[in-house]
Amino acid sequence: MGILNKLFGTSTNQEENIMTKLNIGIILGSTRQGRVSPQVGEWVKGIADKRGDANYEIVDIAEFKLPFLGEADPGPGAAAWSAKLSSLDGFVFITQEYNHSITAALKNALDFARDEWNNKAAGIVSYGSTGGARAAEHLRGILGELLIADVRVHPTLSLFTDFENGSVFKPADLHLDNVNAMLDQVIAWSGALKTLR
Ligand SMILES: Cc1cc2nc3c(=O)[nH]c(=O)nc-3n(C[C@H](O)[C@H](O)[C@H](O)COP(=O)(O)O)c2cc1C
Repeated sequence: MGILNKLFGTSTNQEENIMTKLNIGIILGSTRQGRVSPQVGEWVKGIADKRGDANYEIVDIAEFKLPFLGEADPGPGAAAWSAKLSSLDGFVFITQEYNHSITAALKNALDFARDEWNNKAAGIVSYGSTGGARAAEHLRGILGELLIADVRVHPTLSLFTDFENGSVFKPADLHLDNVNAMLDQVIAWSGALKTLR
């Protein structure tokens, strides 16, 4: 019997849940050559790792080589994608704006799984000419259908002021507090939703 069990009368299962660090995937939403999403993802991971409150990892959709859903044999990538999502308790979507919405690659990757997404939490970090706000709002609608609880705090990065020439990421300091506040909410909800799964 552990200390939490003694103090709070928690069950062994509850105690394991409390003591085990959550696994949070930082999902890169773009896959095109020359994309800036790895720079943004690594920046979020750097902030997240300093917190020490979860296991944070970059999840790069491009590495899974998913075909468009239903068009071809999904191959090993689909199984690997499913396994990766299953191993995660929550997500941070690095979301770029393409024609006022999310990328086709992210939508396809979202469509490729169902149960693996359910009852988990997510935050969104977006970028674009208007901070990627339109893409992020579209993404929220999709996340609802997948039973992913998206948190309120949403860092929005401007292609004009947070990037040089739209390609070299130089985030303004003001975003740091917002990223941490978003992660606070993702961690709280990811932990809470774990009890439903
Ligand atoms: C096909 C396409 C459509 C785009 N449409 C928009 C848009 O509607 N609004 C916007 O703010 N930026 C738009 N952009 C600019 C992207 O937000 C910008 O290129 C960003 O760096 C893309 O993210 P990535 O580098 O990770 O691919 C578009 C870019 C592409 C490639």
